[in-house]
Amino acid sequence: MKQRVLSGIRATGKLHLGNYLGAVKGMIELQNNPNYECFYMVADAHTITTPFDPSSLRQNQREIIIEYLAIGLNPEKSTLFIQSRVPEHFELAFYLSSVVSIARMQHLPTYKEKVKQYPESNTMALLNYPVLMAADILVYKANLVPVGIDQEPHLEVAREIVRKLNQIYGTDLPEPRRFTTLGHYVPSLKGEGKMSKSVEGSYINLTDSLEEIRRKIRSIPTAMVAGGPIIGGIKTLFLLAKLFLSETNYQKFKEDYHRGRLQFVTIKDTLAEAIYQELRPIQERVKQLKKNQSYVDKVIENGCQKARVVAQATLSEIKKKMGFL
Ligand code: TYM
Repeated sequence: MKQRVLSGIRATGKLHLGNYLGAVKGMIELQNNPNYECFYMVADAHTITTPFDPSSLRQNQREIIIEYLAIGLNPEKSTLFIQSRVPEHFELAFYLSSVVSIARMQHLPTYKEKVKQYPESNTMALLNYPVLMAADILVYKANLVPVGIDQEPHLEVAREIVRKLNQIYGTDLPEPRRFTTLGHYVPSLKGEGKMSKSVEGSYINLTDSLEEIRRKIRSIPTAMVAGGPIIGGIKTLFLLAKLFLSETNYQKFKEDYHRGRLQFVTIKDTLAEAIYQELRPIQERVKQLKKNQSYVDKVIENGCQKARVVAQATLSEIKKKMGFL
């Protein structure tokens, strides 16, 4: 039997390099492995856990689907869908919340960070974020979840929920594991913390032009001279170089750095060009797909239907075990 895979990205706008390297690359790898059956969604309901703009939510849902397709997610191989159109996720999330303590949720580092960032929006939806995420995964009985390392605390919550459910109600849900990629942690261009949509100046969008990429890469803070410890912005620069340049080029730049003869602008412009070369075909496909909205509609419609069939089956299995049916 094929193992199941589930992943998702919030509908906060365009994808950035962190999403691409930490999540979508892993999603593609698993899609192209015949041992897996993949479900990939736009986590639009998770978008409302922090302040959001209702007038752009619908457009952002589509934007993510279009970028998924442009990067290479194939609706013939993977089920692509929108979370809010499969309401079984929400029903299951409520049942799951009965085995999770409030204290456990309040202690999660991801929750604390968001509360700090948006003190006015400390809502039930935010507290419930990991429970809904567990429901997303469990409703497909997914074994593997391709996500960045920042999501590990949420996967731990999902595993705890699975263990409790299996123990209390005799369900046979698998404990989901993270599927990791080389880019599982993409640092911020500011040299501190991770690349994140909510931090201006920290990210490169997949749809950025060569000029934008060059400007952003040039803005990575580096030392006056090469040769010191590889920390902060220099660490970011070399990590991105490792992911986008050939091994030979990467090693050459590193050697130049240690010998104190690296010109930062040279590595930066080489890197910007390499990133753009990888993104250019994706950008071309985004343009094409935007001209073919009816195809995108069809993909979404078919995906939501397929996802619902699986989600409904798991939900009724769990409801029976819990005594509802
Ligand atoms: P979101 O939109 O915050 O992030 C989407 C994916 O991108 C990864 N990511 C990164 N990876 C490496 N380096 C970075 N700087 C970086 N920034 C973001 C995230 O790890 C994530 O994989 N909670 C999820 C959405 C979700 C979900 C799910 C995922 C909702 N339900 C069920 C998997 C399964 C999230 O973080 O979205």
